[in-house]
Amino acid sequence: MIIEGCMTSHAVTPLPPLVLDHPLIKHKLTHLRRAETSTAGFRRLVRELSLLMCYEATRELPLEPIEIQTPLEPMQGEQLAGPDVCFISILRAGNGLLDGMLDLVPFAPVGHIGLYRDPETLEAVEYYLKLPSQVSSRRCIVVDPMLATGHSAAAAITRLKEKGARKLLFTCLLSTPEGIACLQKAHPDVQIMTCSIDRGLDEHSYIVPGLGDAGDRLFGTR
Ligand code: URA
Repeated sequence: MIIEGCMTSHAVTPLPPLVLDHPLIKHKLTHLRRAETSTAGFRRLVRELSLLMCYEATRELPLEPIEIQTPLEPMQGEQLAGPDVCFISILRAGNGLLDGMLDLVPFAPVGHIGLYRDPETLEAVEYYLKLPSQVSSRRCIVVDPMLATGHSAAAAITRLKEKGARKLLFTCLLSTPEGIACLQKAHPDVQIMTCSIDRGLDEHSYIVPGLGDAGDRLFGTR
């Protein structure tokens, strides 16, 4: 299936990107970017960064009251109101962000979407899609470490919306002004959460200064 990328949407003002600028995030991101960081180190840092991102990405999750007993007295606490959240990984590098996210929200179901770029038409083509049930009522936290051109992110979100997803948040480690503009143009209703807006893209559509190929660095396929 061919999916449209950065087509203009009819909705109005795009949500501004949320840049996570916590010192821990900046520190870990710097070490993640280093060319000499090993695969093991890269994985550990991505896991730690995704924990920190998840903390922010889940800020709006609804709570419900629950009566509990402390060692001293009963009290009314709060707990997450049911499993109305899910993670959706854009294959394959998105999977690297799942471990940390699932450490914090272990009950969340996980969807996967796989897209490749047709070398002739340059269109995004879907090769895999498996989503949790009731995706339309869930807050969908879409994970992909790199928002580069924005084409595959926009195409993935178009497809998720076709499947009923409505409450979508796109989370990434690195982004570019071009990628943000593309995604905002196609999906102005989707909040983008990123740890950094890098300078731009090189002639091969790699993010610069970037961190290289996130999938290769995560899975040791360099
Ligand atoms: N995907 C990557 O893994 N790295 C980039 O720089 C751009 C896209």
